Amino acid sequence: MEVIIQPTAGRAADLVAQLVAKWLREKPHLVLGLATGRTMENVYSRLVQMHRVEGLDFSLCRTFNLDEYIGLGEGSPFSYRHYMHQHLFRQVNIDLRNTYLPDGAAANLPAACRRYEDQIREFGGIDLQLLGIGAGGHIGFNEPLSALSSRTREKALTQTTLDQNGPLCGGDPKTMPRRALTMGVGTILEAERILLLATGASKAGILAKAIEGPITSMISATALQLHRSCRIVVDEDAAQKLEGKEYYRWLLQNEPEWAPYRDT
Ligand code: F6R
Repeated sequence: MEVIIQPTAGRAADLVAQLVAKWLREKPHLVLGLATGRTMENVYSRLVQMHRVEGLDFSLCRTFNLDEYIGLGEGSPFSYRHYMHQHLFRQVNIDLRNTYLPDGAAANLPAACRRYEDQIREFGGIDLQLLGIGAGGHIGFNEPLSALSSRTREKALTQTTLDQNGPLCGGDPKTMPRRALTMGVGTILEAERILLLATGASKAGILAKAIEGPITSMISATALQLHRSCRIVVDEDAAQKLEGKEYYRWLLQNEPEWAPYRDT
């Protein structure tokens, strides 16, 4: 695991967008795992900008989103499909037939989950998985006690998640979906590379547990410690509680492998 501390949330999002763009240029058929949420909006706006200004090409890439709510009507403005259209898909030259999300409207949800796993496998697996981290430490919607080997499946959302995401779902607790389909922790860990972005002081406590605490299914983000190529990009506010932050800073400034990331 590598932790990269950037001075501001904006610089952290810039760095994540630059890394995505670099890998997309190197491999136009990139299979890209996507996250939603407030943190990712900054990354997507930068990728859209790169598409417009530098011609960053999404035409051959395939995307698989981490999760989708269950029970939202087709075209709901609160669905993650809608979020992705708004923040990325309709603003770049991606082929919508190459964009996949778990089907939260399927009549047979377990079958939809199996199909999703099959589709990821058919394209050779995820090359790069983008992640955020929830207030309770989830990645995707892998809530406490998610097995570290779990696959795409249905999960009930915790009150912490309902409180976190309620405002994004219109703010009415009665209409907020309480269940979702999510890639499992095991599905996420099979990605070739992982890039997690966390910004803001509200994430500092859970981030320190995820990066430096013991691995536990109570906090699914701790499973990332098992991954061989996981980069965590944070701003100063989110880095506040990291015990090793001076060491992470030293590595960024001194290790040759970090040189490309110093002035971004
Ligand atoms: C969303 C997802 C979640 C979010 C997390 C952080 O697709 O997978 O794990 O990344 O809840 O959300 P924000 O960025 O809104 O704090």
